[in-house]
Amino acid sequence: MTTLQEKIQLATTFLQNKGVKDVEFGLILGSGLGELGDEVEDAIAIPYAEIPHFPVSTVEGHAGQLVYGKLSGRPVLAMQGRFHYYEGYSLEDVTFPVRVMKAIGCHSVIVTNAAGGVNEAFTPGDLMLITDQINYTGVNPLIGPNDAAMGPRFADMSHAYDLDYLTTAREVAVSLNLALKEGVYMGFSGPTYETPAEIKMVRLVGGDAVGMSTVPEVIVANHAGLKVLGISCITNLAAGMQANLNHAEVVETTQRVKETFKTYLKETIKAL
Ligand code: 6GU
Repeated sequence: MTTLQEKIQLATTFLQNKGVKDVEFGLILGSGLGELGDEVEDAIAIPYAEIPHFPVSTVEGHAGQLVYGKLSGRPVLAMQGRFHYYEGYSLEDVTFPVRVMKAIGCHSVIVTNAAGGVNEAFTPGDLMLITDQINYTGVNPLIGPNDAAMGPRFADMSHAYDLDYLTTAREVAVSLNLALKEGVYMGFSGPTYETPAEIKMVRLVGGDAVGMSTVPEVIVANHAGLKVLGISCITNLAAGMQANLNHAEVVETTQRVKETFKTYLKETIKAL
């Protein structure tokens, strides 16, 4: 049997042989936000299907490839499309790319997602800086035997989202005159959207936005000692706050704000 460590090493060696080296930032691009990967310069694109032990993405609107190159002059390895737990992947698969980012030398990951707004002050199209997260998925990617070489048994999540990155991200928003929102991302397993009663609970417990991704990747990033910056695109309001919910609106909103999103991320990466 191939161990997780061996799988990570095989994927990493494969990518190194493709020319991936000296990477600073791993980028995880969420639903409808993958276009940032098209802005990578001197790009090498590697389909997930070619990478040993990499899962293959199934959700529409996801290209399913890694893009290596420079963004704002900084070497990045971007995921165009991520893996969701609701698709049936194990959490080991969902978080495998984060392990590879660490193994290939990244010091940080930047996670992005489409999320539903719960905070009454949010409007679809807002960008939300993720200050913290609540794991409401009912699972945890670190369940199971712990490999001390990969991180501690009991990972500290006190600063899951790097404090200095939060400061820089706020400063960049001010410099761009961007009305950046901020708040707590609460992760659900999906694939259903929440009920109005669940959203009422989210608000009561301190969640500002809800989504079906990000939480496992950020847990593993913290376990691995990677710094994290997270940005949500508020694509719609959550259940009970608007008439109905559908994926078409999620895609529509990401399309509407993608230029702002791309500019903001590039300027932030420059400043980190
Ligand atoms: Cl309202 N809920 C969840 N879980 N994910 C979302 C969403 C809502 N809107 C976009 N993604």
